[in-house]
Amino acid sequence: MPRLGFGVSESRDARAAVTEALAQGYRSIDTAAVYDNETAVGAALAASGLPRSELFVTTKVWNVDHGRTRALDAAARSLDRLGLDHVDLLLVHWPNDDLGHCLSTWEAMEELLADGRTRAVGVSNFRPSHLRRLRSLGGRLPALNQVELHPHHQQRALREVHAALGIVTGAWSPLGRGAVLGEPALARVAARHGVTPAQVVLRWHLQQGTVAVPKSDDPRRIAANRDLAFTLDRDDLDAVAALDRPAGSGRIGPVPARVDRIAS
Ligand SMILES: NC(=O)c1ccc[n+]([C@@H]2O[C@H](COP(=O)([O-])OP(=O)(O)OC[C@H]3O[C@@H](n4cnc5c(N)ncnc54)[C@H](OP(=O)(O)O)[C@@H]3O)[C@@H](O)[C@H]2O)c1
Repeated sequence: MPRLGFGVSESRDARAAVTEALAQGYRSIDTAAVYDNETAVGAALAASGLPRSELFVTTKVWNVDHGRTRALDAAARSLDRLGLDHVDLLLVHWPNDDLGHCLSTWEAMEELLADGRTRAVGVSNFRPSHLRRLRSLGGRLPALNQVELHPHHQQRALREVHAALGIVTGAWSPLGRGAVLGEPALARVAARHGVTPAQVVLRWHLQQGTVAVPKSDDPRRIAANRDLAFTLDRDDLDAVAALDRPAGSGRIGPVPARVDRIAS
């Protein structure tokens, strides 16, 4: 899986953004049923003329589609909209404990994997307790858990759990939706390397092994966000590490425990 992908949540024009991203060399696209742009993403993939084997497409099963049958149907609809016979990674978007179907959703994911409708299965916004519940099923563990992760919310404890279980850490909002980019410490590191704060943050993701999927509608930013041919040294990495905020206070997205109660 490419370590750097391209996110399309809230893209102004997902077809245009994905077309630009593919032209700039991105090969991994991160969408979801709930982003309501799988059709546009699929159109851009088809129009690119790139061989399917060069593309890595991720989509996600939304909260209303928990449970085995609903998840199977939701995945089929996603594939239809994308115009693909398989995706490369299919994620359970949120654990949604309160719907009580998380574990049967995972059974559907395993079926989709066995049928070749997806090449890998993973989760998103899962906490250690959810990962332990999946492990207790005795089946396959998620290949990846995509969670909010950026310099203000570094998820160190969760990353340790992932490392112990052999789960790849995926980072959503890898730039903190821009909120982290004004940090003076990032400006200092960026100036030292002749790059932008966004490039420092994305390079930091690469060097710590998280799979980042930055979103942009701006062709110059789309290009710059994958121009990461420099190396952060120990002092640079320490400067970014020091930006972490305590006890989840740097979070910008929803608190996972609350989203468990969101049904749509
Ligand atoms: N699994 C989940 O629950 C979940 C949740 C949220 C997001 N995601 C995924 O993660 C992807 C990225 O997250 P995100 O879109 O929330 O946040 P993000 O990628 O951290 O930030 C996107 C924001 O930063 C701006 N930006 C991009 N590149 C920039 C640069 N070089 N300099 C300055 N600003 C820049 C973008 O504006 P412009 O477009 O104007 O450049 C946009 O406002 C999503 O698209 C989606 O695929 C997943």
